[in-house]
Amino acid sequence: MILASTAAELAAHAPAAGQRRAVVMTMGALHEGHLSLVRRARELADQVVVTIFVNPLQFTDAADLERYPRTLDADSALLEAEGADVVFAPSVEEMYPGGDPIVTVSAGDIGEVFEGEHRPGHFDGVLTVVLKLLHLTRPDVALFGAKDAQQVIAIRRMVHDLAVPVEIEAVPTVRDADGLALSSRNVHLSASERETSLALSRALFAARDAARNGASAAAVVDSGRAVLDSATRASAVLSVDYLAALDPSSSQPVPDDYRGDAVIAVAARVGATRLIDNVTVRIG
Ligand code: PAJ
Repeated sequence: MILASTAAELAAHAPAAGQRRAVVMTMGALHEGHLSLVRRARELADQVVVTIFVNPLQFTDAADLERYPRTLDADSALLEAEGADVVFAPSVEEMYPGGDPIVTVSAGDIGEVFEGEHRPGHFDGVLTVVLKLLHLTRPDVALFGAKDAQQVIAIRRMVHDLAVPVEIEAVPTVRDADGLALSSRNVHLSASERETSLALSRALFAARDAARNGASAAAVVDSGRAVLDSATRASAVLSVDYLAALDPSSSQPVPDDYRGDAVIAVAARVGATRLIDNVTVRIG
């Protein structure tokens, strides 16, 4: 496995002629969720590149950026064991020489709702770094986790709207046995906060059950919110930002009488840690 920290080192390890390259972009602190993307990438391509870069542009809170876990040595060992071929772990100076870029990508309406509303500028920062990393790595296919549903929607839309020559593959969310979606931020949860966090996946599973039982979009959302409301009453540390049904192509909220696939997305703060999760359901 090659560890590249500059664009020049990365360019020196281009895939051989005719070989397919997959890229998995991460911010490090790798867990089984990230590794499932790497495994899927191995199935799809001859050469697997994993990028590790904690992208300052997508953080809306300086303290969150500061305390984001950085574990490059452990990450490299995990990636070596998974058979990654190249790890690209640039510094902030390597990615943004001379400071923040002047020209950036806008997520448009997608960046204004749900995660975008709670983290203004977040998706612009994500799309800007994703496009730059696509240019640096030039993959045939790039893989992203369904865990970050709005991120996948925004990236697919960028690739479509700007004719970016890459295939986008979404990989299902990996959860702990108790339902909690794996996240690099879970390390910040105390044992009791972790218990409280289970309300998110419980709410999503309740919404999914309601959808399976033929409930309307409004009733699906209500059944998820009911779980969160009772969890909030029982906990001093749980504070819900939203639970809503999103259109999977536009990220906008669906109407109450919507029929079709919808992403039920939830975001909440548990103590100082902000968590997001989602499930895709068929309504109607
Ligand atoms: P990060 O949060 O490190 O996640 C890297 C990739 O792993 C993303 O595609 C994310 O959706 C996926 N992932 C995280 N947890 C997962 C889980 N439990 N199951 C399946 N996949 C999971 O997302 C980012 O980094 C950044 O925004 C990035 C795309 C790298 C741009 O900076």
